[in-house]
Amino acid sequence: MRCKSFRMKAAIILLTGFLAYSFSVFSQAEKAFPYIITKKKVVTHGAVVSAHPLASKVGTDILQQGGNAIDAAIATQLALAVVYPNAGNLGGGGFMVARLKDGQQLALDYRERAPDKASRNMYLNEHGAVIEGKSINGHLSAGVPGTVAGLFASAKYGRLSFRKLIQPAIDLAENGFSITAREAASLNSIRDDLKKYNTVLPVFVKKEPWKAGDILVQKELAATLRRIRNQGAKGFYEGTTAQLIVAEMKRGGGIITLEDLKSYHAKFRQPHVFTYKQYTVLGMPMPSSGGILLHQMMKMVETRDIASLGFQSPEAVQLMTEAERRAYADRAEYMGDADFVKVPQQELTDSLYIQSRMKNYVAGKAGNSLLIRPGLPTRKESEETTHLSVLDSDGNAVSVTTTLNNSYGSKTVVAGAGFLLNDEMDDFSAKPGAPNLYGAVGGEANAIAPGKRMLSSMTPTIVLKNNKPYIVVGSPGGTTIPTTLFQTLVNILDFGLSTEDAINKPKFHHQWLPDRIDVEPAYPQSLREALRLMGYTIYERGAIGRTEAIKVLTDGHLEAVADTRGDDAADGF
Ligand code: GLY
Repeated sequence: MRCKSFRMKAAIILLTGFLAYSFSVFSQAEKAFPYIITKKKVVTHGAVVSAHPLASKVGTDILQQGGNAIDAAIATQLALAVVYPNAGNLGGGGFMVARLKDGQQLALDYRERAPDKASRNMYLNEHGAVIEGKSINGHLSAGVPGTVAGLFASAKYGRLSFRKLIQPAIDLAENGFSITAREAASLNSIRDDLKKYNTVLPVFVKKEPWKAGDILVQKELAATLRRIRNQGAKGFYEGTTAQLIVAEMKRGGGIITLEDLKSYHAKFRQPHVFTYKQYTVLGMPMPSSGGILLHQMMKMVETRDIASLGFQSPEAVQLMTEAERRAYADRAEYMGDADFVKVPQQELTDSLYIQSRMKNYVAGKAGNSLLIRPGLPTRKESEETTHLSVLDSDGNAVSVTTTLNNSYGSKTVVAGAGFLLNDEMDDFSAKPGAPNLYGAVGGEANAIAPGKRMLSSMTPTIVLKNNKPYIVVGSPGGTTIPTTLFQTLVNILDFGLSTEDAINKPKFHHQWLPDRIDVEPAYPQSLREALRLMGYTIYERGAIGRTEAIKVLTDGHLEAVADTRGDDAADGF
């Protein structure tokens, strides 16, 4: 009996040991990937789609705690600043378009601005040539960050305290989170740049290469977030954080001053609104070209029964390409910060003008950018931006696109504060009227001036149907953002594609100059060939956009769909 009980005890100890071992193995695995990436979710009460599953979950938690879509968008952006350092940010800027349950329509501009010491020729050498990389990497490429001001400006439309909204981001930074394979590869790919453009080695550089499941802890970022929690926007634009930014500038030859930071303000603007068939489209006005470009492109195809041509038919792609060509020609010539230059916004979106632009369109024959509009090529813009869409049960809709410009911005981390600075100065025309280092140029309207906001392509968009939010959508992708939105919306509204197909089917892009159609690798070969026969040059490139959309279904459910091109995730409840 004694012997039996001893054997039982031994068995229990062994079993307990085995279970403990299994649990520890399991919890290690759990630790590696404690989240799953859901690409589509149909929910009743509220939905969030963003570039990272942890950020989408933070937004959803806030909705579940009684926050509205604005609250969720703020918390999601703050979480992205921690878990998605290549584009989520405190040191960058962005735009928010919102439609509130009472019908109010908001457009919030928290775009970076040129520092007061910036000057028109600051990126040119003594011969007047653009100095390669100077507006893209390091301290001098940074504009005055707008994100934190934007978050506080939008918070007045929220319900929960900012303290509550920022806490998940603080926890993620303080305790760390496990990174995905994609994130590991991305951090490894910029290791050399981080070493080159930092005065103090940042947390993103470690001895061994990053791998999936590694935990990224960001203590200095957590401290910055706590200062913002405790002191509000002043916790960023004044005091310790501001001093750390300026000290970083001094170490690396940057020009942002304490006064630049203190005087930064986000600006509420009138959303750019237009109708497309039975829908109303809300978009971002200047300094983003996105709203006007989308308006022009959609109006150029509206009366041409594009649906009957068929999705991915050569005829439909040609029609859309020619609309894109004409809209982007106007972008290069006329667009910039309307607080500084006259942008003929009324004229550009006048319906007779838009129709006249398509007069020389010939079905089946490629247009020619030099004939369509003699002028100057547009610049290549960085595509590393990020978008999030939120819709709550009251019908508040929020569409936010935010950016550091290039992936990891300037690659410069503010030492002691733990966040990356943008390289948004590159979105200005470094040398108006002459080819820049990409062999392309931008217009006079987008020349550098102190305090001016650089032209953007970000296109956060809300589509209303019967005066209620129907689609909340946006994408990163530099100059490909407006064409990505154009295709996604035409795919849904005209071709009747499912939201997943509208987002994930391979896309194309034409931006006037270079005069070619860019296509994703999966773009059908037969379609490329048909377009070549019409006279187009086809150029294969990488992914175009990473679209996040929420669509309201006919039964009132919310369909949240995240792009398959990244770790983007849909969440909600
Ligand atoms: N930096 C990309 C954009 O603003 O369009």
